[in-house]
Amino acid sequence: MPIQTTSKIWHNGNLIPWESATLHVMSHVIHYGSSVFEGIRCYGQPHGSAVFRLPEHMQRLLDSAKIYRMELPFTLEELCAGVVDVIEANGVTPCYIRPIALRGYGEIGVSPKGSPVEVYIANFPWGKYIPGHGGADICISSWNRLAPNTMPSLAKAGANYMNSQLMHMEAEINGYQESIALDVNGLVSEGSGENVFIVRNGVLYTPPLANSALSGITRDSVLTIARHLGLAVTEQALPRELLYIADEVFFTGTAAEVSPIRSIDRIVIGDGKPGEITKKIADEFFGIANGLKPDRFGWLTPVKVSASEPVTV
Ligand SMILES: Cc1ncc(COP(=O)(O)O)c(C=O)c1O
Repeated sequence: MPIQTTSKIWHNGNLIPWESATLHVMSHVIHYGSSVFEGIRCYGQPHGSAVFRLPEHMQRLLDSAKIYRMELPFTLEELCAGVVDVIEANGVTPCYIRPIALRGYGEIGVSPKGSPVEVYIANFPWGKYIPGHGGADICISSWNRLAPNTMPSLAKAGANYMNSQLMHMEAEINGYQESIALDVNGLVSEGSGENVFIVRNGVLYTPPLANSALSGITRDSVLTIARHLGLAVTEQALPRELLYIADEVFFTGTAAEVSPIRSIDRIVIGDGKPGEITKKIADEFFGIANGLKPDRFGWLTPVKVSASEPVTV
């Protein structure tokens, strides 16, 4: 989907025109993938709009930067304020927000020390990420997720998405909408941009972070919602074949939100329709995000922009 431009981008504390947010081709990030970033959604509410779990996302950005020894010259509060400022300046909601910290133009060697850290925050409309209302048809990737102690999975770094691209391109070429990768030991890890959940015999399972999965904010939201609904929840290592015999499987992610999976490697999951537990969790998730249910976990940061249309149509 082509990017729908907005008017302003936040750059190192200032709002600059969208067209001016450019980089030199010799910037460190272009050659070595030296960036960390976030994906956040702002949802329409009955009376305005609100960003979903803003501080948690910006804390993860700071954590990703820390792992890569990248010093960000902004506090958590300043980064959160930057998100609110850019959304209000552009007046576009519902929207997707993309903060990114990167190593800019300085030196060409692998060492990032001489290349300045720059922070940008953009926002733009972005609708449903995983196609299909009845559930996605996906596959197991022939690519493994990042092995421990190679690329840190807990850092949401631009470079990790070269692995995600291999997974996603392979899936698309073979006629699937997305794939799930196994970790280096053959255990279920995650999608190219999503965490994975399984329901079997009424119990909700998801792989632990040690299986090379990103610490998804939506994953955490779903775990919180499920526990609140009184569901049995287990974070444990999952063998590949458990996916095939699950009653329900779904993806979670900021872009993917809560997306049911209909088949994996052409094996139909359950009865091939979004399951009852998936629907219950999705209902709660979208209810809170869209301000139709109480924000009982304190997940919403209001912004002063009225929503024009729902983002998840
Ligand atoms: C590889 C990967 N796993 C999981 C997720 C889900 O994380 P979140 O729910 O924080 O968006 C994402 C998206 O950010 C991702 O890119």
